Amino acid sequence: MLIDSFDRAHNYLRISLTDNCNLRCFYCMPEEDYEFTPASRLMQPHEIEAIARTFVENGVDKIRLTGGEPLVRKDAADIITRLSKLPVDLSLTTNATRLHDFVDVLEKAQVKSLNISLDTLDADKFNIITRRDGFQKVMDNIHLMLNRGFKVKVNVVVMKGLNDSEILDFIAWTKDLPVQVRFIEFMPFDGNRWTSNQVFTWKDMLDKIEERYSPLRLHDGVNDTDKKYRIEGHQGSFSVISTMSAPFCSGCNRMRLTADGKMKNCLFSTKETNLLGALRNNEDILPLILESIGSKAKELGGQFTKDFEKIHTEDLHNRSMISIGG
Ligand code: GTP
Ligand code: 5AD
Ligand code: SF4
Repeated sequence: MLIDSFDRAHNYLRISLTDNCNLRCFYCMPEEDYEFTPASRLMQPHEIEAIARTFVENGVDKIRLTGGEPLVRKDAADIITRLSKLPVDLSLTTNATRLHDFVDVLEKAQVKSLNISLDTLDADKFNIITRRDGFQKVMDNIHLMLNRGFKVKVNVVVMKGLNDSEILDFIAWTKDLPVQVRFIEFMPFDGNRWTSNQVFTWKDMLDKIEERYSPLRLHDGVNDTDKKYRIEGHQGSFSVISTMSAPFCSGCNRMRLTADGKMKNCLFSTKETNLLGALRNNEDILPLILESIGSKAKELGGQFTKDFEKIHTEDLHNRSMISIGG
C-alpha cells in the first residue's frame, strides 16, 4: 500500500496520455505559445503498462486516463487494452468528441464509467469556450454511450458570468437523462484565464439550485471529490466539486502521472518525480514512488486555495491543467 505521512492510502492513479487536445478550452490551457510535448518524450504504451503495473503491485486498484484529450493519441486503443489486463477499475476523462470510434475498445476493456467535460448546453457558447466546433458530436456521443450502457458523469467547470446562468438548464437536462452532472469550481493554473471573481462557489451553486428545486443530499465515499445530490423525479443526479472554497485533501487517495512520465503527488504540487527517465535507465521505480508519496504535503490544495482572492496566475509555477491532466 502507498501510504503517506498522514495515513492516507493511495489507490487511485490518474495517467495523462498526452497534453495534446483537439479543443482549446481557455480554462485549461494558455491562449498562445503552448507547445505540445513531442511524441518522443511521451510515455510509450509498454512504458505506461510497466509503470502502471508497479503502482498496481503496490495497491492501486483505480486508474483514470486523462489528457489533454486521451483519445487523440493514435495508440490510445492499444494503451486502453493493455491497462485493461491489470486488476483495476479503469476509466477515462474525455471531451467526448472521439468516443464514437472507441465504443468497442472501451466495452472490451470493461470500462464502465466515463467522465465527460462539457461546460455549456449552448452550441455558440461551446465554440467560445473551446475555440473549436464539436458541440453536436459531444451531445451525440453522450447519448451513444448512455445507450451502450456506460455510466456517464458530465464535468461542468462553472465560471461566473459565463455559464453560471446555465446551472438550472443542466439540472433540467438531468430530468430525462440519466447522467450525473458535476459542477466544478473554477481553478487557477499557469496560463489560464482565471480571475478570483469568476469563482462561483459550491454554496453559490446550491443557492441557485435551491431557488427552484429541493435537492436531497446523497451519501459520498470518503475519497470522493464531489458532494452528491438528487432531485425527486429526475433520472439523473448532480454534484458539486468544491476545489476552491472547500478543498477535500483529507480524503485524498490520488497520484498523477503526466504524459511525459513525471509523478505528481498532488494536483498543486510543483515537485515532480521522473519515473519515465528512471524506467528508461533500467532503474527500479518503486523507491521513487515511495519517496514521492512520503513527501506528500498534508493539504497543498487547502493552503493554495485559502485566500484565493490573492492568487494571480502569472505567479503560479505549476503546469497548466492540460499538461497535468486534471
Ligand atoms: P471520479 O473517479 O469519477 O470520482 O473522478 P474524479 O473526480 O477523480 O476525476 P475527474 O477527472 O472527473 O475530475 C473532476 C474534477 O475534480 C476536475 O476538475 C479535477 O481537477 C478535480 N480533481 C480531481 N482530483 C482532484 C484532486 O486530487 N484535488 C483537487 N483539488 N481537485 C481534483
Ligand atoms: N478548473 C476546474 N476544473 C478544470 N478542468 C480543467 N481545467 C479546470 C480548471 N481550470 C476539469 C475539466 C475536466 C477535468 C479533468 O478537469 O473539466 O473534466
Ligand atoms: Fe489531493 Fe492535492 Fe487535490 Fe488536496 S489538492 S485533494 S492533496 S491532489
